[in-house]
Amino acid sequence: MAVVFGGRNSEHAVSLMGAGSVLSAIDRSKYEVVPIGIAPDGRWVLVSEEQRYEIEDGELPAVDGSGTSLALPSASGSIVALEAGRIPASLGQVDVVFPMLHGPYGEDGTIQGLLEMAGVRYVGSGVLASAVGMDKAYMKTLLAAAGLPVGPYVVVRDRDWRVDRERVLKDIETLGWPVFVKPSRAGSSQGISRADDFQGLERAIELAREHDPKVLVEAAIEGREIECAVLESPGDEPPAASLPGEVVVNDDHEFFDFSAKYIGSDMSLTVPADLPVEVSDDLRQMAVQAFEALGCEGLSRVDFFYTPSGRLILNEINTMPGFTAMSVAPQLWAATGVPYAELVDRLIQLALA
Ligand code: DAL
Ligand code: MG
Repeated sequence: MAVVFGGRNSEHAVSLMGAGSVLSAIDRSKYEVVPIGIAPDGRWVLVSEEQRYEIEDGELPAVDGSGTSLALPSASGSIVALEAGRIPASLGQVDVVFPMLHGPYGEDGTIQGLLEMAGVRYVGSGVLASAVGMDKAYMKTLLAAAGLPVGPYVVVRDRDWRVDRERVLKDIETLGWPVFVKPSRAGSSQGISRADDFQGLERAIELAREHDPKVLVEAAIEGREIECAVLESPGDEPPAASLPGEVVVNDDHEFFDFSAKYIGSDMSLTVPADLPVEVSDDLRQMAVQAFEALGCEGLSRVDFFYTPSGRLILNEINTMPGFTAMSVAPQLWAATGVPYAELVDRLIQLALA
């Protein structure tokens, strides 16, 4: 099997952290593993032993693109090594790929499409679910269409922002203040900021546009952050929901931002979240509905707000959630009785089934 990580997007380092965990958890007596990195410039390389997967002294890990370059997977399912000026050497047949990738060109259906074209099986969601899950605007449209509760939001498309700004700002005003401004297609809170007034809003939209010309502006929702992971079941069983967990972020962060998530680890996770039984049951059921609404496969993490008035609002679904052993989705499954190595193995087995 191949584990592919890194990638051409702002979650490159997050992907490496997940890959480090996956590579150490895979049962080497069962699988022969080829680690493949996608450098920030998009080159596929065979990863060297020296590859660093962790943040060290605040420095994010990255794939070193100077290793042996690889051609993309071929239709025969093999991955071909291309060393500069050399005749290609085959690395042999790959039965399954674990795309341990987040964000655009990883979690958005593009690599999934490439693997479909090559006839190679892979872990996780397919093309459509990945693409929809990556694009918050379409994600919300589909979740709402499935009858799931999503919060109020406005989509700011590139052209609207350039030529019809007055109207866009009027629409956003109806959301009330503050608002959260997000690139439609990004992850790990990159490019996300809070705006308390029009001046802050323009800045926030420009910041989000550095990641994606399509921007989502969401009404702030007061509530506890509760997350639930969903795992596809083997055979004909419906997908299973983990116990819900509550994410609590240190007060110094305005929201669950990149630094709280990865740098300072300024968050704690309580599993199971302290919720009334019927709320927990509803939430788990909604998480499975969200998974099915998008047609997800493998594993997803579904994030909710639980408001003081007792409502659940579905914030988003992630088709390749943060996946280090200490990340939320693996922790939720560990607390539900599926330890990390077993989770990794189950995902590979689901892909091979
Ligand atoms: N996009 C990050 C990896 C997450 O959802 O956990
Ligand atoms: Mg996300």
